[in-house]
Amino acid sequence: MKTVTISTLNKLKQAGEKFSCLTAYDATFSGQASQAGVEVLLVGDSLGMVLQGHNTTLPVSVDDIAYHTQCVTRGNQGALIMADMPFMSNASTEQLLINAGKLMQAGAHMVKIEGEAWLAEGITELTRRGVPVCAHLGLTPQMVNQFGGYKVQGKTEAAAQAIIEASQKLVAAGASIILLECVPTEVGRLVTEAVAVPVIGIGAGPHTDGQILVLQDMLGITLGHTAKFVKNFMTDASSIQQALSNYHQEVKANTFPAEEHCFS
Ligand code: KIV
Ligand code: NA
Repeated sequence: MKTVTISTLNKLKQAGEKFSCLTAYDATFSGQASQAGVEVLLVGDSLGMVLQGHNTTLPVSVDDIAYHTQCVTRGNQGALIMADMPFMSNASTEQLLINAGKLMQAGAHMVKIEGEAWLAEGITELTRRGVPVCAHLGLTPQMVNQFGGYKVQGKTEAAAQAIIEASQKLVAAGASIILLECVPTEVGRLVTEAVAVPVIGIGAGPHTDGQILVLQDMLGITLGHTAKFVKNFMTDASSIQQALSNYHQEVKANTFPAEEHCFS
């Protein structure tokens, strides 16, 4: 597989071609997912839940993400590796820069940060120093205590407008990718049209340029509740390799997500 870079994703957006993304935390799954054609591997702080067994992502440290980024880097076959900035790793601009630097030195090609329009300043400082940024908007799980649960965001006209304006402001500040989590399909479409950079969605409808899922969710091995936007790709597959490949194909064909995985 060819090496995927930010310019690859920009070209896909311009050509109207979808791309697939998955979380990965180790070398084996990194190798399998990238071999299946998955363009972006996210070392997500979801590892706090699926690997470490916590109820939220808040306990995850920069060292945890750095360790798993090293593992994913070793197995990777050409995918773009994105590493999550965990809770409070950007308590100040200085800490943001130092911690993002650690993740880049662990092998990440870019970092992802949760927030809103206020992320602009930090994004500019990072991009100036050669750290490409994905801005994560909508349902940002590190805000779970502020939100009072994991709830669909951008449901009112004003909330939707705030997400659209934040995405434009953050792209102007230097963000290379926008990631939208749990927003109505219409908000996913409007943000994707509003910015020139690729938009990745999870529970954001079929119109975003890329789709992402947590690996364990799409393999159907997550314990307890699974979200509406999740599809278990093992149901119709006889191997993990086939499930990963089917996921990639369904995103490319825009048959995933289907209506049942979306919020209106
Ligand atoms: O940590 C994670 O896995 C994520 C994705 C769900 C977008 O942030
Ligand atoms: Na995350």
